[in-house]
Amino acid sequence: MSLTIGVPGETFAGEKRVATVPEVVEKLIKLGFAVNVESGAGAAANFDDASYRAAGAQIIADPATLCAQSDIIFKVRGPSAAEVGLLKEGSTLVSFIWPAQNPELLQQLAARKLTVLAIDALPRQLSRAQKMDALTSQAGVAGYRAVIEAANAFGRFFNGQITAAGKVPPAKVFIAGAGVAGLAAIGAAASLGAIVRANDTRAEVADQVVSLGGEFVKVDYEEEGSGGGGYAKVMSEGFQQAQREMYAKQAREVDIIITTALIPGKPAPRLITAAMVESMKPGSVIVDMAAEQGGNCELTEPGQAVVKHGVTIVGYTDLVSRLAKQSSTLYATNLFRLTEELCKTKDGIIDVNMEDDAIRGLTVIKEGAITWPPPPLKQSAAPPAKPAAAQPAKGKGHGHGAPSAPMAGTTLAIVFGCAAALFWFVGAHAPASFLAHFTVFVLACFVGYMVVWNVTPALHTPLMSVTNAISSIIAIGALVQIAPPLADLGTGRPDEWIRWIAFVGIALTAVNMFGGFAVTRRMLAMFQK
Ligand code: NAI
Repeated sequence: MSLTIGVPGETFAGEKRVATVPEVVEKLIKLGFAVNVESGAGAAANFDDASYRAAGAQIIADPATLCAQSDIIFKVRGPSAAEVGLLKEGSTLVSFIWPAQNPELLQQLAARKLTVLAIDALPRQLSRAQKMDALTSQAGVAGYRAVIEAANAFGRFFNGQITAAGKVPPAKVFIAGAGVAGLAAIGAAASLGAIVRANDTRAEVADQVVSLGGEFVKVDYEEEGSGGGGYAKVMSEGFQQAQREMYAKQAREVDIIITTALIPGKPAPRLITAAMVESMKPGSVIVDMAAEQGGNCELTEPGQAVVKHGVTIVGYTDLVSRLAKQSSTLYATNLFRLTEELCKTKDGIIDVNMEDDAIRGLTVIKEGAITWPPPPLKQSAAPPAKPAAAQPAKGKGHGHGAPSAPMAGTTLAIVFGCAAALFWFVGAHAPASFLAHFTVFVLACFVGYMVVWNVTPALHTPLMSVTNAISSIIAIGALVQIAPPLADLGTGRPDEWIRWIAFVGIALTAVNMFGGFAVTRRMLAMFQK
């Protein structure tokens, strides 16, 4: 028998999101589930009961009946103690849980013999998990909204304008922390026309900052900031000192600062001091997205917008709820993708498969047994961790993006030794005609390797298409074959069929050549502001 998904309204003060939306209800029904929605659950996100009903959901007036009649509960916020009491024994709960911060909640849920999937515990580093990644979808919304809040509190345009009344300079925005929220904020501020700068302790995000229209501002201190799994680590005192100096300089120059710096499980790093706020121009704005974790700015008051030293400091903790329709839709889609993974048979029955890395990661309770924390991932799709120790200065060349680490000395020596032996063998035994081709081949490999290695990884796809276009040089072969004039075709000469093939070859190569260059041009245009 197929299962029923229940969606109660959120009870947390100020929470406007809802765990499913009418558009997704239809898809869940197609997967074989029945859907119950509490009356008014979507009202704050602009989804009324009628639209849920039209999508095929049953509207239930009170949460107790809804929980009693549902096998799976979709929620946004983790349940309160009262809500835990309503959940049917043996049912499945999918919501944000934050198991590390809420051990008592975990105990209460386990006592009711539930299966609990904490969407925040999804192993984000698995590329397969991206479609279910609610942390990312919600942080993206929050980053965008942070820019809108900043624009609201700021007394000027974001873009530069030349008007009859005079010239308006563009606003300068500095983003601290270029994770998911930071990147969304960079994109939003750049699209409004501001000059955007950003900094992050993880140097690998520099390319992403640039591709979204921002400028990456480096701290003048060499230290790798990646703590593995796409997250940052706590930096050394020396780095922090250099970073404070750079932030102080930015604070004097820019009009808006949006801070998003966070290291999971740690209090938010204090990046903006009271003195930096004081040094900002009057009318400037700071949006501190980390307000809930203690704030990246010393003067932030969580949940409030306050004016200190003439600077508006926005510490709202409900940025996602301020775009409730958008964030609910994205969250509902994340949960739908998760449901697809749980119900591969499309028959309205779920299978919480603990052999699946993604499902195992987010299952914090299985049939009443606490299964959190999960074992380390068997296979990590994350880039290999780089050594955490301070790196020696690399000098110039950062403009080329992040080339991979060079081979270790011994490995390099072995590779060169083997290559030399191979060349000697070929040189001693192969015929002279082969040697000429072989030399060209080896040189081509070497030049190709050096070219590809020095191109920023983000540009590898356009590089592929342009090399594809250049490979059309093989057209020369076809041209040689077709040498007698086309007018001779059809005269019944014995090699006519070769020329026909050459003709087809030239036509196809022309598509490859012109198409390749056209596609490259379009792709490169995507990188230009
Ligand atoms: P994330 O983990 O993707 O990004 C955080 C970034 O900060 C990382 O790129 C990290 O390398 C960087 N970082 C860490 N320490 C740093 C330092 N000392 N200096 C410079 N950069 C540093 O996190 P995400 O999802 O982008 O969230 C960002 C913040 O926004 C979090 O504090 C999160 O709780 C908050 N948030 C707030 C909301 C609100 O309504 N106020 C809503 C959603 C998220």
